[in-house]
Amino acid sequence: MTFEQKKIIIAIDGFSSCGKSTVAKGLAEKLHFLYIDSGAMYRATTLYCLENNIIINGVVNEEKLNKSLDNIHIEFISDKGAGTYFTFLNGKNIEDDIRNIEVSNNVSNISIFKKVREKMVALQRAYAIENSIVMDGRDIGTVVFPNADLKIFMTADVKIRATRRYNELLQKGQKVSLQEIEKNIMDRDEKDQTRAISPLKKANDAIVLDNSYLTHEEQLNWVIAKVNSIINN
Ligand code: DC
Repeated sequence: MTFEQKKIIIAIDGFSSCGKSTVAKGLAEKLHFLYIDSGAMYRATTLYCLENNIIINGVVNEEKLNKSLDNIHIEFISDKGAGTYFTFLNGKNIEDDIRNIEVSNNVSNISIFKKVREKMVALQRAYAIENSIVMDGRDIGTVVFPNADLKIFMTADVKIRATRRYNELLQKGQKVSLQEIEKNIMDRDEKDQTRAISPLKKANDAIVLDNSYLTHEEQLNWVIAKVNSIINN
């Protein structure tokens, strides 16, 4: 007789640029779970829309968008040696392209559409069929995996988030102002929380992590303590 090991799902939701992916990646590495960055999927779809004139000056051609969805193939390919994942769109590594300010400024206009979300949610759920998983995003604990074993809701002071993102982009050689980043973060928070379908909100059973004044190590230890408490219960 073979025993199926129970697959564990950890959902990490929260505001833009509050370090969800750093915590989620660190946790997945520690637990040997698969890590999926659901925001990267919405960003990849947005990049496709920008490259194919589906969104122009922030205005989306919904008909063209819906017709194009079958042509958008998103994959996460791991570089096993380095332990990192890269987002691929139609066979091309777009990991850096999807982090630029143009994509950031447009992604909340694309992620409001029902058909886009349906496609992303189906892809996201498929990853959990065969894997224990850590997934970060906005609606993971509320919509994608309402029965997740552990739900974390992350938040941090907006000025601290903006400064962190600014330093990250500076390091990558992207020229942006701190004000521009802060505005982008506040705009996305507002749009993510107020959209009609799957808005960003804390699941009732999620535990809040405010990491404004916590180091990466402190955050990881905090989350690992929560994981241990669910595994040992
Ligand atoms: O996590 P991120 O900042 O890379 O996500 C980019 C955008 O994608 C975010 O502003 C809203 C959208 N998003 C979403 O609507 N639902 C998710 N599960 C993840 C991201």
